[in-house]
Amino acid sequence: MTTPVPPLTKSQFPDSFVWGVATSAFQIEGAALQDGKGPSIWDSFCRQPGAIADNSNGDIACEHYARWSSDLDMIADLGVDAYRFSISWPRVRPTGAGAWNDKGLDFYERLVDRLVEKGIKPYLTLNHWDLPDALQANGGWAHRDTVHRFVEYAEGIQARMGDRLASIATHNEPWVVAVLGHESGVFAPGIKSRATAAQVSHHLLLSHGLAVQALRAQRSQASLGIVLNLSPMHPATDSDADKAKTQLEDGKLLRWYMDPLFKASYPQDVLDHLGEDAPKMEAGDLKNIAVPIDFLGVNYYSRSVISADNSWKAGSTGLEVTDMNWEVYPEGLTELLVRMHRDYAVPPLYVTENGGAFKDAMQDGRVHDQDRTSYIQNHIAAVGEAIRQGVRMKGYMVWSLMDNFEWASGYEKRFGIVHVDYATQVRTLKDSARWYRDFLGQPQSQRTAAR
Ligand code: FCB
Repeated sequence: MTTPVPPLTKSQFPDSFVWGVATSAFQIEGAALQDGKGPSIWDSFCRQPGAIADNSNGDIACEHYARWSSDLDMIADLGVDAYRFSISWPRVRPTGAGAWNDKGLDFYERLVDRLVEKGIKPYLTLNHWDLPDALQANGGWAHRDTVHRFVEYAEGIQARMGDRLASIATHNEPWVVAVLGHESGVFAPGIKSRATAAQVSHHLLLSHGLAVQALRAQRSQASLGIVLNLSPMHPATDSDADKAKTQLEDGKLLRWYMDPLFKASYPQDVLDHLGEDAPKMEAGDLKNIAVPIDFLGVNYYSRSVISADNSWKAGSTGLEVTDMNWEVYPEGLTELLVRMHRDYAVPPLYVTENGGAFKDAMQDGRVHDQDRTSYIQNHIAAVGEAIRQGVRMKGYMVWSLMDNFEWASGYEKRFGIVHVDYATQVRTLKDSARWYRDFLGQPQSQRTAAR
């Protein structure tokens, strides 16, 4: 394990740099059908036998829907500038079309108001994967209608609480929704079709562009953007086959999203690869996708190493791996950010997610998660290095505030800097949270009060 050199201090970053923690609705809220919430595709997917490693679901999760107020106190005590969270679309509009649910809207409005009161900037994500089930019954993201329902959803949220939001991200990780949800089918809605996945990715991007335009028309004061999951791709060997596959995988993960967003085109090599499975588009779609945005969020966990025969195994190079079996590779974050800055006319960038799942042990009321602490320190240092190399970086958010429902892995993988005892819902700051709090300095509330 490497220790960052020189020792990391907040003063090495610009004063305006935003430090945060992140969560998403389905992973923490619970209250799956409470107060008028409609089911989401993740509620249904969890019911499919074998879909979730520990056969769990999001019915209870971290009970954040009930415990939001004390959870916000905990966030404030960490001293962060921002809290990144998502709205559950079916909680505010149960079928994704038709009537809105006031109780759901009230919940998020209370949350936003309390954040503002505490001097914490609300960073909202509209779609962190939990599409209303009723829209899936109508074809979901594969159906062009969903694009328009999403725009209405964005407009409804902006009208209700947009004046208090610092930031609105349209989608979280469209690649995951498209490919894991519709090609490999390991995530909701569990479809296995490459053509559907390609169509879904196009509709997600289109809905992003149209939503941004609609929010601007409503004079949104929040900064508007999207969050992508990206990794640098490295060939396992120097063989032509490994290098060619690496180039294609880079196209499928990074260029497939970055090119339409910033160059109004899809990469030709990936279109050729997809052949008849390429998405159906209408005239003007690409122009609508490539609208200017205020920020781009990057979720970074590891690099990808590509071998033509899929034989490469994480850990085989001797690097540490996390409990997800993802290589710990902080220098990949610098490489990625510098490359995005070099190859595209990007707006200011955020790391909107970064963190690690590790096997934690509670000892005498403490979790000594040195591995997670080092992971976070080294990745923050990697962001600092990107800034030194000229990348315009605006902020960094740890994934995640607390242990939560890790999708198909259920509750077995713990990403939190706060430990959650699922039997009692007791929250305990791990050493990583204590380190982050010290790094950030005094709690935000005290800082504000001291002025
Ligand atoms: C990302 C997701 C987030 C979390 C982390 C570990 O892909 O956006 O919800 O599950 O991975």
